[in-house]
Amino acid sequence: MDIQKNLINFKRLPTHIAFIMDGNGRWAQKYNKTRAQGHEAGSKTLENLTKEMDRIGIQYVTAYAFSTENWNRPKAEVDFLMGLLRKYFKQHIRQAKKDNIKIKVIGDCSGLALDIQEQIKELENMTKDKTGLVLQLALNYGARDEMIRSIQKIGKDLLENKIKITEIDELMFEQYLDTATIPDPDLLIRTSGEIRLSNFLLWQMAYTELYFCEEFWPDFSIQNLYDAIYHFQQRKRRFGGL
Ligand code: IPE
Ligand code: IPE
Ligand code: MG
Repeated sequence: MDIQKNLINFKRLPTHIAFIMDGNGRWAQKYNKTRAQGHEAGSKTLENLTKEMDRIGIQYVTAYAFSTENWNRPKAEVDFLMGLLRKYFKQHIRQAKKDNIKIKVIGDCSGLALDIQEQIKELENMTKDKTGLVLQLALNYGARDEMIRSIQKIGKDLLENKIKITEIDELMFEQYLDTATIPDPDLLIRTSGEIRLSNFLLWQMAYTELYFCEEFWPDFSIQNLYDAIYHFQQRKRRFGGL
């Protein structure tokens, strides 16, 4: 269903949208292309959507680009995805002066190649004072891994007497997650017809509105984004209350 733009309340947009960008491979199969071409097309989709979301004033976007489980794919595909990341970061480093987007990476960066880690540091540093959309890229990200890493950091601070056991509460725990300081997603969009979370933001999505659609990620258009936002705006969020 194509929702007319005028049905959307631009004053009540979700503050934070999370994306599980799924279906690059099946998109490629459908159009007789290679999986690599699917991922390349998928990266363009993220570019286009980021620009549009920044334009309309969405404040935070988190995009799942590579999971802790995606290392289980054939080496050739993993290598291609890492190459695509290098290209993505290189381009963003080049255009960082012009853009107003702030880029952050969540996930275990220590598991990525050193040159990619360097690119991430450079780009995060170059964009840290930007005032536009905050784009969190989830790379080598798994929610369980994130929580375990947080618990390790908490354990370390306990041993060093920086915190007390009785001080550990939800608010404190959140400050140890990769997403510290970023509000929880209001809306999750997963493309390609899969209806699961695949280890994405399990803590942060306790009260997120979930939206699943059939389009493969490279085909997910700005119109599809507006459809999702429209559906989000029809939901009644209760957060356990009445
Ligand atoms: C999403 O597309 C991109 C990544 C997980 C890196 P897929 O590669 O999972 O595409 P399908 O699910 O095989 O179609
Ligand atoms: C989730 O997609 C991870 C990313 C989009 C990066 P997958 O394609 O890896 O998820 P599953 O395997 O279908 O659950
Ligand atoms: Mg997939």
